[in-house]
Amino acid sequence: MPGPVLHVTGARPNFPKAAPVHRALAERGVEQQLVHTGQHYGQQMFDVFLRQLDLPHPDVNLGVGSGSHATQTAAVLTAVEELLLQRRPALLVVYGDVNSTVAAALAAAKLGIRVAHVEAGLRSFDRTMPEEINRVVTDRIADTLFATSPDAVAHLGNEGIAADRIHLVGNPMIDTLLANLDRFDAAKARAEHGLDGPYVVATLHRPANVDRPADAAELVHAVHAVADQADVVLPLHPRGRERLRSVGLFDHPRIRVLEPLGYVEFLGLVRGAEAVVTDSGGVQEETTVLGVPCLTIRPNTERPVTITHGTNCLVTRATLAAEVEQRLRAGRPQTWPTPPLWDGHAGQRIADVLVREL
Ligand code: UD1
Ligand code: UDP
Repeated sequence: MPGPVLHVTGARPNFPKAAPVHRALAERGVEQQLVHTGQHYGQQMFDVFLRQLDLPHPDVNLGVGSGSHATQTAAVLTAVEELLLQRRPALLVVYGDVNSTVAAALAAAKLGIRVAHVEAGLRSFDRTMPEEINRVVTDRIADTLFATSPDAVAHLGNEGIAADRIHLVGNPMIDTLLANLDRFDAAKARAEHGLDGPYVVATLHRPANVDRPADAAELVHAVHAVADQADVVLPLHPRGRERLRSVGLFDHPRIRVLEPLGYVEFLGLVRGAEAVVTDSGGVQEETTVLGVPCLTIRPNTERPVTITHGTNCLVTRATLAAEVEQRLRAGRPQTWPTPPLWDGHAGQRIADVLVREL
């Protein structure tokens, strides 16, 4: 008997990617275990996602918590290795580009356990992003690579990965979005947050925006200029919260800074927004499918398909306010393209490949 399939999650964006794969494998009768590294923790960054996305409680929570890159990565590597030696899975499935992803993949690869990477091949070509290093390393050591877009397939090919290991399957995060669409209640979100006019939703957590005081101050200036035009609702990631507070983020009457929201509540709010301002990876994809204009405050994106086939646009801190003004004037698009295969069935395609390979 081969061992179970072991899924590793670490951070908030891993859950909407893992849920459809876990569900599709369960439908095919595959024995599975869910391991959470504990990179993200607490009600709003962890528990709420299990509850809302119908994921089982993890079989194991490694409880690694926060730390520097080396500390956190090493803690996951050590803990996952020990677990793999005990459980001897047939296959390890990792998601996205967080520290838990690369550490778990490395532990498995060294033990000769097959690794499947969901969301492989995304490249910003910006090695100052910790995620870019995690992506490149994870793809290098993964055996089976699941890509969400044709550009990702091309990057993997250019890096010398054999075509028969790469599978263009669509986007499991969008499976979760489409499966939960009926729960995203914009009217309820408006009522809950006392919003009666057009509003903008913002999320900010990239180190390049929030870690250094000078960047954070420039960012706050730009977000205040947005709030001069419309109410801004900002469920704020814990990273950078104190930094952004210290440079005045909270000091504008039209900015509502909230704790991180649950998945359903967050996307309810996004669904009713005139525009979203973000530096998140996942939010660029979700807004593309919801048809909400997305202004990404970054110099690059590893998800260019959200620009060519979606509602995304890269902005700088200097251009943000003018871009928002333009979106407020133009209103929401009536029709918009979506990327190929972002149709709600990526989890099924991934499970079909994995079952064949098991
Ligand atoms: C991580 C990922 C990033 C992803 C983001 C999703 C890496 C290198 N980065 O960034 O790619 O976009 O998750 O949200 O893996 N903290 C809490 N509670 C938590 C988790 C974190 O308070 O549940 C605080 C801690 O002070 C911690 C800081 O946030 O030091 C950063 O957390 P960490 O997991 O290291 O990185 P993120 O910025 O969350
Ligand atoms: N999200 C959420 N609550 C929030 C902000 C984001 O549920 O307050 C969800 C969002 O819908 C998406 C995921 O978290 O599914 C994205 O995570 P994040 O932006 O933290 O990470 P990234 O995608 O940038 O790695």
